[in-house]
Amino acid sequence: MITNIGTIFAQSEEGKEVTVRGWIHRHRSSGNMVFAVIRDHTGILQVTVKKDKVSEKDWKSSNDAYVESSLIVRGTVKKDERAPGGLELQATGFELISRGEPFPIAKDLSEEYLMDIRHLWTRSQKISSIMKARHHIVNYLREFFISEEFYEVAPPIITKSGCEGGSTLFEMDYFGEPAYLTQSSQMYAEVFVFSLGKVFVLAPSFRAEKSRTKRHLAEYWHLEPEMAFYDHKMNMELQEQMVRYVVEKMLKEHSELLKTCGRNPLDLEKIKDPFEKIDYKVAVERVNEFGGKMEWGEDFGADEEALLTKDQERPLFVEKFPKAIKSFYMEEDPKNPEVVLANDLLAPQGHGEIIGGSERIWDYDKLLARMNEQNLDLKNYQWYLDLRKYGSIPHSGFGLGIERVVKWMLDLDHIRDTIPFPRTINRCYP
Ligand code: 4AD
Ligand code: MG
Repeated sequence: MITNIGTIFAQSEEGKEVTVRGWIHRHRSSGNMVFAVIRDHTGILQVTVKKDKVSEKDWKSSNDAYVESSLIVRGTVKKDERAPGGLELQATGFELISRGEPFPIAKDLSEEYLMDIRHLWTRSQKISSIMKARHHIVNYLREFFISEEFYEVAPPIITKSGCEGGSTLFEMDYFGEPAYLTQSSQMYAEVFVFSLGKVFVLAPSFRAEKSRTKRHLAEYWHLEPEMAFYDHKMNMELQEQMVRYVVEKMLKEHSELLKTCGRNPLDLEKIKDPFEKIDYKVAVERVNEFGGKMEWGEDFGADEEALLTKDQERPLFVEKFPKAIKSFYMEEDPKNPEVVLANDLLAPQGHGEIIGGSERIWDYDKLLARMNEQNLDLKNYQWYLDLRKYGSIPHSGFGLGIERVVKWMLDLDHIRDTIPFPRTINRCYP
């Protein structure tokens, strides 16, 4: 029977005979002794192999092993203060499953090189911890929406129409006709509010982002809820409730993992109070006050969002953006037609935008007029207009970038480490 390394520590299996299956994490030999640290998906364990305690064949194997050789080790668990976690395995058997070749990753490699061998670097403790945390975050997001009685729906990835502006569309040849990788599944999520009420999509979105930044990917995972009969205010309340839910769950269930990934859980404890809400107009004034320079009508970039959030302890809502810098489908503010009933949610400590959402225009003529104003090619949007023709209703929704949320929750410097194989302007390999 194989025992997971995590179980050995959890049950403090001192004195027990166990068999562990894993990979060599670190390795060194000195005379009649081999020290190895081995890992499986649940943790790492120090192993000592003494020449006189194992067969000749196993002794040779233990000396021959490389970092990342796969193996099966049998032995006795002993207390050892110096070992990581205070336990070590004294081997009685050491069998290589595959010795392999010398592993190409050692200390002090450049970030570029690590990206080239990403398929191997994913085995590192850093990336595997982040992937575990990402799994839990996504899981809690789903759990939240399912507990709120949302249905998950499946959108197409290949589309004829974008909803976030032509400049970041990836065009493809669809049997001789132009088509695009989806920028957002929002319009397809909207389809389902008429039959399912509250829905969400979790799917990739694609953006041909021409800039190199620490928060843009060309391919990212996009969570997009859409709700019948929700207005702008209800939309923001839901966003806040969702963020709070995930943060509380991560703190309660995975605070050690948060620490391993580099996030101090105490930072996340602080977000319990209600999130501050400011209008775009106030946000522009704040940016200028904090040393930035922008005018009403300009959009925030990473620098402006960093200024707005660097001293914030909680996420910050910015709402009511100028119509001209937002997408065609956003409902005007009845009190001020210059601005739309849209919001961004900015993560604290400089992380910036994690969510963009809005109330949607639900009147056919209004939507048509806005689409014409923006010179959209109506033939590709007729189906979307149709939704407003037959029993239209007010509705709202938002889009959350999974990688942006992971970057913030784990306090990572760069978005590339939040996804196994980041696609950026200069990389689509491996
Ligand atoms: O603000 P965005 O562009 O809004 C939309 O796409 C709406 N249609 C969403 C909706 O209402 N259903 O994108 C939404 C979120 C952003 O807040 C950000 O978190 C993430 O998607 N995002 C990106 N994440 C990584 N790389 C990129 N290039 C991203 N672009 C947007
Ligand atoms: Mg946005």
